Amino acid sequence: MGGTRGFGIDIGGSGIKGCVVDLTAGRLEAERIRIDTPDPASPDLIAGVVKKIVDGFGWTGRVGVTLPAVIKQGVAMTAANIDKSWIGTDARTLFAERLGRTPDEVAVLNDADAAGMAEIRYGWPGDQSGVVVLLTFGTGIGSALFLDGKLVPNTEFGHLEVDGLDAETRAAASVKDEQDLSWEEWARRVSRYIRTLEDLIWPDLIIAGGGVSKKADRWLPLLDVRTRVVPAELRNDAGIVGAAVAAELGAKP
Ligand code: BGC
Repeated sequence: MGGTRGFGIDIGGSGIKGCVVDLTAGRLEAERIRIDTPDPASPDLIAGVVKKIVDGFGWTGRVGVTLPAVIKQGVAMTAANIDKSWIGTDARTLFAERLGRTPDEVAVLNDADAAGMAEIRYGWPGDQSGVVVLLTFGTGIGSALFLDGKLVPNTEFGHLEVDGLDAETRAAASVKDEQDLSWEEWARRVSRYIRTLEDLIWPDLIIAGGGVSKKADRWLPLLDVRTRVVPAELRNDAGIVGAAVAAELGAKP
């Protein structure tokens, strides 16, 4: 522990990305490797890609891996945009065996939780006390909840029911693209979603992440919500960085 380099891999429905991470600066240390997510996105095929990426860097230390899934003690309890056979899979043991590591050298956590850990550690420079929520707007909506900087894992706020519907099916960034919504139309949906969340957990700060946070100036000013919403500082690499942090901390969500 206490090293300044780590390794993170971020698994998504379309791509699997990994890199050596500078844990002092919270940045990728090199050009990341990205490989298309195999089809089917099964545990076996994904573990093969994870090994290829780790070996590609000649990395021999701890490895952190994210999945778009609820993770309890290293086991995937859900599976979003990856094969359903992940459900019930002991992902930590699977990756450890494939990588020739002990399970203690591997951390597996939810993708939004990883992005949130990176953001809390290296990103948003303002006050992080109280209840802070990071929301990632992408294919779905991911969430990471922090109380005084400490993660409460697996919150799954993207699946809040809003007007009788699963929130991410209305307000994810992918829905904006699919339905060709204007920024105004999409921001109205996001506002409705955030207002529902606000009424339940009364956050002190919301950090907006995911690819669409790159265009934060187009939609954050349009939001009509009670809580201050700021764009994530770390962009696409937040999942990789957060995974590396989790591995370094020996986090076992
Ligand atoms: C999943 C979450 C995930 C989020 C972002 C949701 O559909 O349920 O586990 O964090 O998508 O990938």
